[in-house]
Amino acid sequence: MGQKDGRFSCAVLTISDKGSRGERVDTSGPQLQQQLKACHFKVSEYAIVPDQPDPIRQIILHWVDVMKIDLIVTTGGTGVGPSDLTPEATRPLLDYEIPGISEAMRMVSFTKTANAILSRGIAGVRKQCLIINLPGSEKAARENLEVVLSALNHAIYKIKGGSKDCC
Ligand code: MTE
Repeated sequence: MGQKDGRFSCAVLTISDKGSRGERVDTSGPQLQQQLKACHFKVSEYAIVPDQPDPIRQIILHWVDVMKIDLIVTTGGTGVGPSDLTPEATRPLLDYEIPGISEAMRMVSFTKTANAILSRGIAGVRKQCLIINLPGSEKAARENLEVVLSALNHAIYKIKGGSKDCC
């Protein structure tokens, strides 16, 4: 159901002013790609954009509407600082939210660090593409994706209208 090569396609978007200017090496994006590949996703796209709504929206729209990617994970810009705009950039693009994904990530992350409450990341669906905001540091991105990774293949199957019973 909607899988190319028997696997769902995915894209990783690092959102970082410094990363986009080449002033910081992005370790979170490659880390997420490894985790997704290990879970049998086909990682077909990767990009770094600054913490600005327009570039974030443009690349997500291209990946969803033109490239028909099945899963997009973003990393960075979910916090409470003035330049953290990822949730605001993502929300208007969604057809509907899946609050449980971000709730679970914050809940489990809170057992590791109280700072988990500072991530405002959201998750939801645009045109049958699942989009998930993760926090920016390599550690935070890895820990948050770990929480939900095992449910993502089934989530995308259901998002695309899969009718097999849930177990
Ligand atoms: N979640 C986990 N699991 N581990 C972490 O280290 N860091 C937090 C939080 N979530 C963290 C985490 C911190 S310090 C911040 S500021 C927020 O994610 C937002 O991060 P961002 O602004 O880089 O997106």
